[in-house]
Amino acid sequence: MIDRQTIERILDAAQIVDVVQEFVPLKKRGVNYLGLCPFHNEKTPSFTVSPSKEIFKCFGCGKVGNSVNFIMEHEHLTYPEALKYLARKYHIEVVEKERSPEEIEKQNERESLLVVTAYAARQFTENLLHSDEGINIGLAYFRERGFRQETVKKFELGYSFEQRDAFTKKALEDGYKEDFLVKTGLSIRHEERIFDRFSGRVMFPIHSLSGQVLGFGGRILKSDARTAKYLNSPESEIYHKSKIVYGIFQARRAIMQEDKCFLVEGYTDVMSLHEVGIENVVASSGTSLTQEQVRLIKRFTPNITILYDGDAAGIKASLRGIDLVLEEGMNVKIVLLPDGEDPDSYSKKVSNSDFTKYIKDHETDFIRFKTQLLLAESNNDPVLKANLIRDVVRSIAVIPETIIRTVYIKECSMVLEVAEPVLYNEVNKLRQQKSFQERNKYPGPEDLPVPPVQSVKPVQFKTVTYYSEKEIIRLLLKYSSRELERILRKEDGKEEIITVLDYIVKEITTDELSFDDPVCARIFADFRFYSDQGLFPGDKHFVKHEDPDISRLSADLLSDSHELSRIWKDKQTFVETEEMKLKDIVPDAVLKFKSDKIIAARKEIMTLLEEAAKEGDNDKILSLQKRYNTLSSALGIISKQLGNRILL
Ligand code: CTP
Ligand code: MN
Repeated sequence: MIDRQTIERILDAAQIVDVVQEFVPLKKRGVNYLGLCPFHNEKTPSFTVSPSKEIFKCFGCGKVGNSVNFIMEHEHLTYPEALKYLARKYHIEVVEKERSPEEIEKQNERESLLVVTAYAARQFTENLLHSDEGINIGLAYFRERGFRQETVKKFELGYSFEQRDAFTKKALEDGYKEDFLVKTGLSIRHEERIFDRFSGRVMFPIHSLSGQVLGFGGRILKSDARTAKYLNSPESEIYHKSKIVYGIFQARRAIMQEDKCFLVEGYTDVMSLHEVGIENVVASSGTSLTQEQVRLIKRFTPNITILYDGDAAGIKASLRGIDLVLEEGMNVKIVLLPDGEDPDSYSKKVSNSDFTKYIKDHETDFIRFKTQLLLAESNNDPVLKANLIRDVVRSIAVIPETIIRTVYIKECSMVLEVAEPVLYNEVNKLRQQKSFQERNKYPGPEDLPVPPVQSVKPVQFKTVTYYSEKEIIRLLLKYSSRELERILRKEDGKEEIITVLDYIVKEITTDELSFDDPVCARIFADFRFYSDQGLFPGDKHFVKHEDPDISRLSADLLSDSHELSRIWKDKQTFVETEEMKLKDIVPDAVLKFKSDKIIAARKEIMTLLEEAAKEGDNDKILSLQKRYNTLSSALGIISKQLGNRILL
């Protein structure tokens, strides 16, 4: 639990433009900012950020909210995680209540390990750039391989001295605990002696999404067959190999901009692509791709292009990767490099423009890739070809979305010359198998309710009165302190100003009406509370509310889409703003709210009447009918008051 004051401080510090801009390039448009929506694919920007209202809203997909809601959506974080994220960004200390001693210890340990890896990374770059040994051996090595200084710096590359305990000794001297040096894997304890894991290697720090150093890869410089070419940090509290991809920190912005991510195998491949100007690239770092890694990429784009070596091992690795990516509902393409080349070597061999052209020209859709590859192997042998079809069908079957499966089936039918219905049949058969379903537990979009368009809540889950409830809340949010009318008090003959807030609260409470929607009800309760004290909570109070449901609804109601959605656009030459019409709008909204409540109550009575009729309970029927009639005449009066405006 994060305490309320901390939440408020975070919300105050987190300026919406600043928060969004870290992930979405924004352009100023009038008082607002505009960009490409990170939550759906679009070519023309409809993602709007309003610094004055402190909200974002996409007019394409309907996503809306304040800065915390944005981080929750974008980074797939829970509410407390999003708050902590922002707290880190704005250097706000998070005071948490009710954490167990174990939790605190674990958190402290994680932080200590991160401090140690950050220190190590600094030491290694220092060695590389400013020591004789580092410059002559490490930096010379990178130069020889053709990496520019700029790239070396961008990836914070480093060098670990040859002396077996140089780093450990220095770290201990500088006050870092041996325990943490061992736990991060930087040092290895062997009986009485302690020495460096990475001595005599050039160092590739592995960064988290937000740029913290989690671990290292260290490459040996001599071609020494006795030790592995690369050594990596062992698994620890902070470094989980299967959950991170190399280069994501340096690539995330470009991945979003290009809406695509290249996947390569090695550290140097990532760097080489940056050198030729391709920055949307990450590496799986030698391990076979994992689902977690794919999902990490999926946060930023649904499009992956696998760029592997053209040799047999590379092909095999890309085939394994394909299904994993498809299973996540992502689009996958493959580029095979000429035999014997990896992205690093090939980019050095040809000019930058030839390299990018090669990638463009050789990007192959997975169906074509797989079929061409296997077709060549099958040699038109019917049995082998049948196997090939089954193989491709299996890849199509893992795709969660029906429409995409359909497109691929069409393509496959063409390439392999098999009738579409046959393929459909095979795909469906596979999908129905229990073992298949168990393996693919991750449900596809078709198994879930319709894509969540946040602002337009599905009607069937809402009561009849939801829209009029929302309208009341909207008016309160926008105009609560505005004057609605002046009355002369009978008691003392003084003039009294009735505000929108006074009016609405009075109308609703004297009739003892309440809100069915829980979020509206909570907001109204807040307004009532303030009204009793003669205060007006500003709209910011709700947009920055500690309850994310409240902030989201408030942001939605305050966003522009609602502003002209009413009927007050005049046919004459000037447009009357809503604010000029409050005297009509507010009472109308209250009347509409009341009539909706009555209609809902009448419906309920109808059901009760049916039941009573079944039971033959005449007394009950009579009293219900009476109640029904009372409600009906009340509705009649309201309809009259609403005049000729349509009552639904
Ligand atoms: N790898 C590893 N341990 C090894 C070999 C490889 O962890 N013994 C990982 C590294 O992350 C490496 C990746 O697998 O970057 C790809 O391996 P490879 O293609 O052999 O390395 P390159 O990145 O091409 O390295 P270099 O060009 O320096 O030889
Ligand atoms: Mn290589």
